[in-house]
Amino acid sequence: MSDSFLITLGVLAASASGLWAWHRWHHRSFWLCLGYPLTAITVRFTWRKVALGCGLTKKRQRFWFTTVPGLVASTGVVRVKRKFQRIAVDTKPWMWFPLPTRYGWRVTLHLLEGQIPDDYAQVAERLAHSWGVHAVRVSSPRPGRVILAATIRDPLVRVDRFPFSTELLKVTVGRLETGKPWVIDFRTVPHWLNAGATQSGKSNLANALIIGLSSQPVALVGFDLKGGVEFTPYGPRLSALATSRAECVDLLDDLVRLMVDRMTACRTAGARNIWQLPEDRRPVPVVVLVDELAELYLMADKSEKEEIAKTSTALLRVAQLGRAFGIYLFCCGQRIGSDLGPGVTALRAQCSGRICHRVNDPETATMTLGDLDPAALVSARAIASETPGVAIVASQDGQWYRARSFYVSEAAAEHAARMYADLTPSWTDITTGEHSAEVTDADLAQFLTPDPVVPEPRKG
Ligand SMILES: Nc1ncnc2c1ncn2[C@@H]1O[C@H](COP(=O)(O)OP(=O)(O)OP(=O)(O)O)[C@@H](O)[C@H]1O
Ligand SMILES: [Mg+2]
Repeated sequence: MSDSFLITLGVLAASASGLWAWHRWHHRSFWLCLGYPLTAITVRFTWRKVALGCGLTKKRQRFWFTTVPGLVASTGVVRVKRKFQRIAVDTKPWMWFPLPTRYGWRVTLHLLEGQIPDDYAQVAERLAHSWGVHAVRVSSPRPGRVILAATIRDPLVRVDRFPFSTELLKVTVGRLETGKPWVIDFRTVPHWLNAGATQSGKSNLANALIIGLSSQPVALVGFDLKGGVEFTPYGPRLSALATSRAECVDLLDDLVRLMVDRMTACRTAGARNIWQLPEDRRPVPVVVLVDELAELYLMADKSEKEEIAKTSTALLRVAQLGRAFGIYLFCCGQRIGSDLGPGVTALRAQCSGRICHRVNDPETATMTLGDLDPAALVSARAIASETPGVAIVASQDGQWYRARSFYVSEAAAEHAARMYADLTPSWTDITTGEHSAEVTDADLAQFLTPDPVVPEPRKG
């Protein structure tokens, strides 16, 4: 072998390992300097083929040079000639140049006549395969435009931590697929349903909330009908905890009475909610955490029927009026289906925040996420058991996101609960007030907020 060949081989090997090391150790700069420009050019130049393959083109009449049969030569060969004529041509949607994002790239397209963003959402999986990326998400910032956001690898396999939010009733619990923080803000979305199969990460999310809220001036209340195994360790930071059905009924009674007191206070001060009260007279917000919601509705024997009916009514009332009076619900459960009774269906309609972790059956996903984009349901069912904490999140903006909570061990949540134990308001102090005797339906209606935001699931 000649020297020059060996030198070329050596240079190639050194460049390849250099590129590998760059990609391995500083992926971000590698992606921006090399990966992204090459990808963007390829995407731009192969768009016609991809759009055709995914059925996103339209036939349009255009003047075009075509070859048509001409004269027959003396040899018998048919000579073709070029002719400029009007024919139907496949037209692709206009594509801007792709822009880099944290986890891939995004590109804006102009819709062709008769197209809607849903046409693109339906072929998102085909697009992802054509481009060899993890996923393509479709959004439409304004009429006539769609943005395709491609993520190269699943960004939720490992999530880096964000600092916890310090704003009242706002907790950064994880990261969205877009790279943005996943924030649970009770003041914007007061009540949440958090569903998922066993070991899907529901309690982990509740732990993240406990850590986030422990340092804030709020009261935390727990309902844990699994015998208290989940919430008892956080006792030092809980103002009240119910672990049996009888305790649940009492605690819900307290909550309804608390709401009525706050309602009276608001009415006297001419305020529509506690946030309109002067700061020194504003009562402490209460966040109610429920682990395994179904336990509140399941009947072991007939004798519990009355208690369950009471629980169901009280919980629903808290959900209907809680927002105005600073009482917020976070309900976790493996199943939140209508088989648990009409109370659950009504409660679900009041909970505009929806979180769906990995589920075993499509019904739970449909029940939790409601009538969202069918792609959200497909995404929820595709969550792997190897990635606990990954969930589909739907909230007030009508959008849905894939997200993953930060891993929060029970020990960490327990530590936070002990550390901030002195911030725990006493339940007696919170619930002591001049209880107004009667509240009429007209009083309640005055404070009812227009809900729900997430539509109920489609029948069938
Ligand atoms: N975001 C996360 N990142 C990494 N690991 C997680 C995450 N969330 C949960 N896990 C892991 O998954 C396990 C199960 O989580 P968790 O206890 O929250 O599930 P669950 O849905 O509450 O289950 P169950 O219905 O049995 O109570 C935990 O032990 C934890 O190790
Ligand atoms: Mg759990």
